[in-house]
Amino acid sequence: MARIFSGIQPTGIATLGNYLGALRNWVALQESEDECIFCLVDLHAITNFQEAAALREQTRQMAALLLACGIDPARSILFHQSAVSAHARLAWIFNCVARMGWLKRMTQFKDKAGRDQEAASTGLFVYPNLMAADIHAYHATKVPVGDDQLQHLELANDIAEKFNHDFGVAFFPRIEPLVLKDSARVMSLRDGTKKMSKSDPSDQSRINMTDTADMIDQKIRKAKTDPAPLPEHVHDLASRPEARNLVGIFATITGQTPHQVLHHFAGAGFGPFKTQLAEALIAHIEPISLRTRQYLDDPTALDQILKDGAHRAAAIAEPIVTEAERLVGFLSR
Ligand code: TYM
Repeated sequence: MARIFSGIQPTGIATLGNYLGALRNWVALQESEDECIFCLVDLHAITNFQEAAALREQTRQMAALLLACGIDPARSILFHQSAVSAHARLAWIFNCVARMGWLKRMTQFKDKAGRDQEAASTGLFVYPNLMAADIHAYHATKVPVGDDQLQHLELANDIAEKFNHDFGVAFFPRIEPLVLKDSARVMSLRDGTKKMSKSDPSDQSRINMTDTADMIDQKIRKAKTDPAPLPEHVHDLASRPEARNLVGIFATITGQTPHQVLHHFAGAGFGPFKTQLAEALIAHIEPISLRTRQYLDDPTALDQILKDGAHRAAAIAEPIVTEAERLVGFLSR
């Protein structure tokens, strides 16, 4: 039995990108033999300033959504990161193992810091070390993510290797990313070359997992396309990023291959395709959105689920991180 770990930031509302690229996979992995640990990474969230009340609300909101998507707290461990101190303790050790040059190469830091890197928080810079600690604190070996996180996972392997080398041990195992093929990178509805993101200033660029049927319908109708009809072959979509993205979403949400979708719509304009795409999305998202609201109606029950999860998570992480501290040379507490 392997251990699976993944996380999501409780900032903003989860998008269709989060769902198709990661959450859907998390739910499916619960059926495997492996032990699943899913984390609301609130320590990561504050690398950009968050209003305290909003962070609390969004953490509950994200917990409710994960449960509504099918994360089952009886089978998986679901918790918020700040409740298990082992993450921050191991992250500090990793801050001292990782090299400046490694972190400077992280493309997500460059994207998120924007032009004024001097004004970014130092937390944003060392964020990948915390992410490595999240995984290694559990000796997890499988990590389901979208492909924007792959560079961070490579770094997590580099950190583990250097730790093992520096202290002459084989303590942290290698980790393997689990990436879904057709939905590893869901793109913006306004620009097919940009990732769909909760932090994009335009709400029209994304489908939120809480959008109403009307909003989904309207966003898909307005989604950017090009004037040519849908082609017969997938390779003809190569230079048409918006069309390729919509066909990818259609395929994933209806459980088909892009090839099967094109077989059905080849030669037609985007009108009927978009109508059916909106219908499929609504059929999928509306029940999730309804269940999310039901979970949010009982915040006490929600908090209890997270507390139980944190308790179970700490029972795994505590001895591993205590051993890492011993290896480093800290006296026992
Ligand atoms: P976050 O919160 O940005 O996103 C959560 C998950 O959603 C995936 N994702 C996407 N997949 C496909 N298309 C998209 N447009 C899209 N947008 C987001 C992400 O790849 C991710 O899997 N650093 C992580 C959270 C994290 C983590 C971890 C993940 C912290 N510690 C340990 C794995 C293991 C993040 O910011 O994800």
